[in-house]
Amino acid sequence: MAVIDLRSDTVTEPTDEMREAMARAKVGDDVLGEDPTVRELETLAAEMLGKERGLFVPSGTMANLVAVMSHTQRGDEVLVEAEAHTYYYEVGSISAVAGVMPRPIPGRLGYIAPDQIRDAVRPPNVHFPIPRLLCLENTHNRAGGIPFSAQEMDAACVTAHEAGLAVHVDGARIFNAAVALGVPAGQLVRSADSVMFCVSKGLSAPVGSVLLGGTDFIELARRFRKMVGGGMRQAGVIAAAGVVALRTMVARLADDHANARRLAEGVARIPPLAVDLSRVRTNMVLVTINGPLTAPEVIERLKREGVLALPTGASTIRMVTHRHISGQNIDHALDAIRRTVATMATIR
Ligand SMILES: Cc1ncc(COP(=O)(O)O)c(C=O)c1O
Repeated sequence: MAVIDLRSDTVTEPTDEMREAMARAKVGDDVLGEDPTVRELETLAAEMLGKERGLFVPSGTMANLVAVMSHTQRGDEVLVEAEAHTYYYEVGSISAVAGVMPRPIPGRLGYIAPDQIRDAVRPPNVHFPIPRLLCLENTHNRAGGIPFSAQEMDAACVTAHEAGLAVHVDGARIFNAAVALGVPAGQLVRSADSVMFCVSKGLSAPVGSVLLGGTDFIELARRFRKMVGGGMRQAGVIAAAGVVALRTMVARLADDHANARRLAEGVARIPPLAVDLSRVRTNMVLVTINGPLTAPEVIERLKREGVLALPTGASTIRMVTHRHISGQNIDHALDAIRRTVATMATIR
């Protein structure tokens, strides 16, 4: 039975072109700044995102951590959306390692609006930590892959800057946002001080993320990357796949978005499952179960049918499309979901 893996776009494997580029990559010691392929990836990423410099790091989690360490001092306050990956899924690293005080702000479908930023930033007072940084996430994972426009991003950044905060963008899937909105990715982060994106998700490269920002910020981030053990030696071997990812994998994300919509529209017609179709904008589908079935039960049954998904709550399931999921896979997945729900309804 062929498995249809909708757990995450992180399951994508490198293309043949990536594997060839990895085998041929010119390499050097990147801790000494001598790996030409890492430099090529960092330069290309900086051009595409409109920032001065880039820094290749092993993971998105490390990129966010190093960004927070570079923008803050220990004890500072960091405004972060309450369901943001940085707050929800990164093992508490920004407090455990960076030593900052996260201030979780419940966003509006993942977006922290200017008025919320203004309300959250408190005037200087001996009792308060110093508010130093705003973290935004685009696309927002737990909100269902929602992309935020350049205007929304600008508005949040301007307000944060007026309040004396720097802005870091977790753009793990910034290219999904750019493709969905039909704009260059750089537009979405033009007002931010730093951004990171992952080559290891929908872009299909095996490993890595790039952190981008101004020259001084990246110099500092390079030191923090070393501090947390992210200095890699002949990293060009993996960066080579990232270069291919940026050159060849961005435009095709539109296929993943079309497949997510097809999946969402199909699932929405299978009660007691429900999907808010207005939220399906990129490659994610959040399914709500209205009724007695729980997400883990449905996921376990679906697994027996060869369809893999992840729970995001007791009665919510996330399905993610990516390069290994075809339109035909979506139709098969929908058949399996229909069968599963029908069987479970009769058992109950
Ligand atoms: C929005 C977002 N940020 C950061 C990360 C962390 O990336 P990594 O798994 O490479 O640490 C992820 C991973 O899924 C993510 O979805």
